[in-house]
Amino acid sequence: MASSRFSSIFLLSIILTISKFALGGNFYEDFDNLFGDVRVDIKDEGQSMTLTMDEYSGSGIVSKNEYLFGRFDMKIKLVPGNSAGTVTAFYLSSQGSNHDEIDIEFLGNLTGDPYLLSTNVYADGVGGREMQYYLWFDPTEDFHTYSIDWNPDRIIILVDDIPIRVMLNRQTIGVPFPTSQPMRLYTTLWNGDSWATRWGAVKLDLSNAPFIAGFKHFNANACIAKEGGASCKGFNRGIFRDLDQESKKKMRKVQSKWIVYDYCRDLRRYAHGLPFECRKENLLDQSK
Ligand SMILES: *[C@@H]1O[C@H](CO)[C@@H](O)[C@H](O)[C@H]1NC(C)=O
Repeated sequence: MASSRFSSIFLLSIILTISKFALGGNFYEDFDNLFGDVRVDIKDEGQSMTLTMDEYSGSGIVSKNEYLFGRFDMKIKLVPGNSAGTVTAFYLSSQGSNHDEIDIEFLGNLTGDPYLLSTNVYADGVGGREMQYYLWFDPTEDFHTYSIDWNPDRIIILVDDIPIRVMLNRQTIGVPFPTSQPMRLYTTLWNGDSWATRWGAVKLDLSNAPFIAGFKHFNANACIAKEGGASCKGFNRGIFRDLDQESKKKMRKVQSKWIVYDYCRDLRRYAHGLPFECRKENLLDQSK
């Protein structure tokens, strides 16, 4: 008797827990059109999508749900050829002036010149935490998996399961970190030629339009935030909390070879003092 009641409570609690996750993913069911109308083209019963930018508009989608913590994966094949001026973005963002945001952006380039993968984190409305990388493959040739893994302790950004960036929660030393604002997931393709390619010097070449990027196998193992997300507290912690030794080794390798820009090393921009978390006395050794 007691044990069967226990097991039905146990079952119920599993069902309740699962109902607040979004597992798997479908472009039809999980997203709304954000801009660009028919330039958003969803196929394969919601399993794949292309975004197009032409002379009139780019395009993009936004998740129906707001999430508080989780792991988000997307397979992306970037605009081939002359993609200078294009920005393909995969990011989480909350609303409002003190918004939080976690960005993966791909800045296009002239044919044969490398794409730049740009990452940034906004917390409490303040960004400026860019880290930028070249990729060790041609991202226009095939689909690769790009991921944001976010929990209350840290944000990890991954390329094909290799972590390329970890931002730790340093609220204890006064550094804002996204822990309380639910965010929507965005996927967009737009004209960023005022700044994107060689700092804005190379413009979009519309003779190469339409620009088309491919997306598939969207996956969110994330907590859907209802009523402000109180029930999401601590989601995605546990065993995923830390990188294992193998992953740390891989990250160090990528970072030693492929980083183009790191805000923590930009002494010109921060001539009057590096951001708090970048100062020598506050640096954490992430290799341990
Ligand atoms: C584009 O290519 C140039 C030349 O190789 C490089 O300096 C730049 O970082 C590349 N990416 C962007 C987005 O400008």
